[in-house]
Amino acid sequence: MSVDRPEVVLLGRLDPSIVAELAARRLVPTPVETETEAARRLKAGARAIVVSVGNSVQLARRLGHLFSGALEQGALLGIVAEDESQFDLASEIAYRSHPGDPDGAFARYDIARRSEITALAERIARHSTGRSQGNTCIRMRKGAKPAGDRLLLLQRAFNDCLEVALTELPGGASTPWRIDVIRHQTSRLPASFVAKIGNIEKIQSEISATQLACGDHLQFGYVPPIVENRCAVGVTESILVSRFVDRAILLSLYLETHSPALAVASIFDGPLRVLRTHAARDRGYVGRMLPPGIKPRHLYHAYNATRAIGRRVVRPPRRLLAALRNAPPVDYARCLSHGDLHHGNVFVRQNTTEIVLIDFARSKELPSSFDPAELEVSLAFRRSPQALDGVTDDLLLALYRRPLYGQCSVPTTASRGLAIQQVRLQAAALASAEEYSLAVGIQLLWHAQKQRALAYELADQVIP
Ligand SMILES: Nc1ncnc2c1ncn2[C@@H]1O[C@H](COP(=O)(O)OP(=O)(O)O)[C@@H](O)[C@H]1O
Ligand SMILES: [Mg+2]
Repeated sequence: MSVDRPEVVLLGRLDPSIVAELAARRLVPTPVETETEAARRLKAGARAIVVSVGNSVQLARRLGHLFSGALEQGALLGIVAEDESQFDLASEIAYRSHPGDPDGAFARYDIARRSEITALAERIARHSTGRSQGNTCIRMRKGAKPAGDRLLLLQRAFNDCLEVALTELPGGASTPWRIDVIRHQTSRLPASFVAKIGNIEKIQSEISATQLACGDHLQFGYVPPIVENRCAVGVTESILVSRFVDRAILLSLYLETHSPALAVASIFDGPLRVLRTHAARDRGYVGRMLPPGIKPRHLYHAYNATRAIGRRVVRPPRRLLAALRNAPPVDYARCLSHGDLHHGNVFVRQNTTEIVLIDFARSKELPSSFDPAELEVSLAFRRSPQALDGVTDDLLLALYRRPLYGQCSVPTTASRGLAIQQVRLQAAALASAEEYSLAVGIQLLWHAQKQRALAYELADQVIP
């Protein structure tokens, strides 16, 4: 639902056929004489600019001038080369201008040989600039004002709003903002959103993964919808806008004041059940499905620290990973999974036990044991700093023994300990004991990499 801005700015000596091709697609080709004029029209919201490349010096200068001006406003930059040598040169400059993300660069601009003018015109006809900048004034409620190009993305995303106030959220890897807006002069109804800004490719992959996981079937209520027409694309970064989850608290905070059984049950009966709808039976080496980043050398620190504590003899990293990889194949259910289900990505609505999951960036098909395993191990190891939740090393040593499902009656009053047991009671209905040990072992090793000796020791207890 992008604003229709079909003007296409033409700069340099271009073949007349481009004008005809553009006009045939209901676009408005507008030749300009100077780069200043081109920049002015881009700022006013032209959909694309097409530049012909002359010699190398001119090309470099033009790209330098036009590149950010065009792309910051979401326009497509089309470069037309007269012959092969110009084409190679243009490609090289394009790659050099985006060293970290050359494919992302090509997604924002197109280099065409003269013979490919039709394809370029089609590409422009399909291109959406998203929103333009507007005059929205952005006010900070909490945190530092974002840098200039990020501010521009925020202004584009909320260009229809009267008032926009930002609050920095305590984020994970990204720094998300809560955005409170008043949309119209007439109806001064407030609305709240969450915006994340990140590199174009990362944001695009988060949008695709979320759409894949939630698109048609994970209904409204279990996941805050992405507001697609506010997701603008800039030169190097994009913005992802989703609805703010109102009147809800993170699972970690919820557990400090509530008993876990109902909330944990509604994670499994709610969003996870919907994700499991299309599960398929499979058989394989679940222990080999560990994240590619886990390597023996990342585990030595935790291993040596475990030995220094000297509670018991543990297997060294190579042997432990080999045991995981060589564990016999198991039958499992392969299903669409959240893929990052730690307790910081789970909200519980106030006064109910309805669950909302956020952050589907890593969503993919996995064995049904992986989400529960990640959730329980996050409850054991990802503490909020103030949490005095009574989870002691002794409790974890007792909970993380095989058979894992057999430890649901280990006595504890710690809310996170009880929550871990509730997750296991639910998981027992989804995955065999063998599969679950492997899934939990993988999660424990992931925490052990972060130099956690106890996680390493528990992994050794859990991996067969
Ligand atoms: N839709 C939302 N509603 C309310 N808070 C949110 C929402 N999305 C994110 N947050 C807050 O921002 C934090 C980080 O967001 P998240 O999407 O998990 O980003 P990251 O990729 O950094 O983990 C969350 O833990 C939560 O506190
Ligand atoms: Mg997160």
